[in-house]
Amino acid sequence: MCGIVGYVGDKQALEVVLDGLRRLEYRGYDSAGVSVLDGSGLQVERKAGKLANLEELVSGRAMPGTLGIGHTRWATHGPPTDANAHPHVDCAGAVAVVHNGTIENYEVLVAGLEQRGHQRRSETDTEVVAHLLEERYADGPTQGDLPASLRSICKDLEGSFVLVVSHRDEPDLVVAARRNLPLVIGLGDGENFVGSDVTAFIAHTREARAVEQDQVVEVRRAGVTVTDLEGTVVDGDSYHVDWDTDAAEKGGYEFFMLKEIEEQPAAVRETLGGRLDADGLLHLDELAMSDEDVRGIEQVFIVACGSAYHSGLIGKYAIERWCRLPVQVEMASEFRYRDPVVGRNTLVIAVSQSGETADTLEAVRHARSQRAWVLAVTNTVGSTISRESDAALYTRGGPEVAVASTKAVMTQITAMYLVGLYLAQLRGTRDPDEVRAHMADLSTIPDLLTELLGRMEPVRELARSLKDEERVLFLGRHVGYPMALEGALKLKELAYVSAEGFPAGEIKHGPIALIEQGTPVVVIAPRHALQAKLINNVQEVRARGARTIVITTDGDASVLPYADDVISIPDTKSLLTPLLTIVPLQVLSAEIARARGLDVDQPRNLAKSVTVE
Ligand code: M6R
Repeated sequence: MCGIVGYVGDKQALEVVLDGLRRLEYRGYDSAGVSVLDGSGLQVERKAGKLANLEELVSGRAMPGTLGIGHTRWATHGPPTDANAHPHVDCAGAVAVVHNGTIENYEVLVAGLEQRGHQRRSETDTEVVAHLLEERYADGPTQGDLPASLRSICKDLEGSFVLVVSHRDEPDLVVAARRNLPLVIGLGDGENFVGSDVTAFIAHTREARAVEQDQVVEVRRAGVTVTDLEGTVVDGDSYHVDWDTDAAEKGGYEFFMLKEIEEQPAAVRETLGGRLDADGLLHLDELAMSDEDVRGIEQVFIVACGSAYHSGLIGKYAIERWCRLPVQVEMASEFRYRDPVVGRNTLVIAVSQSGETADTLEAVRHARSQRAWVLAVTNTVGSTISRESDAALYTRGGPEVAVASTKAVMTQITAMYLVGLYLAQLRGTRDPDEVRAHMADLSTIPDLLTELLGRMEPVRELARSLKDEERVLFLGRHVGYPMALEGALKLKELAYVSAEGFPAGEIKHGPIALIEQGTPVVVIAPRHALQAKLINNVQEVRARGARTIVITTDGDASVLPYADDVISIPDTKSLLTPLLTIVPLQVLSAEIARARGLDVDQPRNLAKSVTVE
């Protein structure tokens, strides 16, 4: 969590840093701060609440200077107050530090610092770094050497961190360090950047370089030097970022989420693009496994969190159906703690939009330690999960800024189908004609999505009628079940409504007791083999007073007698229906949140990228 920016160049740093923080605010938004170095020293401003509060504080205030660092916070140690907002400074106000992560041994370090006379001004773990830097820069073998001071401190820190540091006596230097959490360098012309991700500097440069584990970066106007913790210079490749800058702007929409919902047809098109050869055979060279190894796979695990976990559940249906391989889908936060039976012939698929989710990353590390082959399915090129996996399949969804995952889930589900078909093709469980036919079905989805998105106004109207509900249930069967979970998660996180998703056949074993007169129950019932059973379930809940909201297929009248409200989607193959049923669920939750006057993009207590366990 937390967004970090560092800049040194010839522009006014305050503007560059605030602009970067605006783009990173999705990572955390309970307080924010900046520090700018001018001729007289470090100027630091911090404010609790969203970035807008900080912007108001500094507006009209002179903070000249062309070197600056900034931070937008998701609190871990200490509540989100002005005092706990970053940057933190040492006793003399000579060093400013911003930090993403947690320093696990900070209490021991604080005790030592207090004994040595340092005054603590916040409840954060971060502040210790400022005081330690004060000591090491002032004295001893690293005296007067900021990068060496930071390298030496990193050796004493336990936990996860990205640290970005500036010092009043170093007018041409920002220093940053990384362990376990993401840090990217932006390479400009006469100016250079560091940021939590490329959106921090994409408005200024598209040349980026990822910082690896336990590396320290010295950022100067003329260039950037990366070293390991011993000070040895480490070479690395830069890469070009081809994300469209407009994609990271709201483009006239009230919220990013609304824009990102509309971007889904194009996103799916991108995910599918260029995957077929002239013979209509699927190519997924990113999997990077030999045909022999693919044929040797005996089981598949899919590990992920939140909405990505729901995408993984769809992957299970697709891979089991097409490849006849056993697939287990695990919440990444549970995976490594129960000692799963994973070995050499196991394919582990880690699904993560950000590629930085701590739980998923740890699951990847665990799987690799067990000699499994790990494939990352991620949206973020150069992310930690993609780099630590054996191979990476990029979902190509473009930047997703809203905390709620929409086009990311959509493209993850699409990628799950691609993986399923590719494995089936290589293992010979589906013949090439069938793979071609499924790919042809998938290729119709973007147009169907465009059509569906064009008729969402009745769904928005329905959402407004639900705005005062405090509990909503979601039911589905087969691939509709993960979508029921996804619909419930979206409503919880966006509208703070108590919502649960169930397999429809399961409600009679307990959850049906939740139903009272008027309880809204959303049933995902597009036309497919289990629809008759779903209609029974709709009748069961309706008989107990539920208000039934049924998602069905165009032209299908079978469910109409039992539905209080109907949402109709275009027809497609039953296994692919999640790519369509998910859309009204997204629109419903966004509109309920909007009608309740909530911040659709930045729900309370959350952050986009969950980099703590
Ligand atoms: O970046 P990731 O895909 O690993 O994130 C996983 C979850 O944190 C994420 O999907 C979360 O559940 C979304 N906010 C849901 O909309």
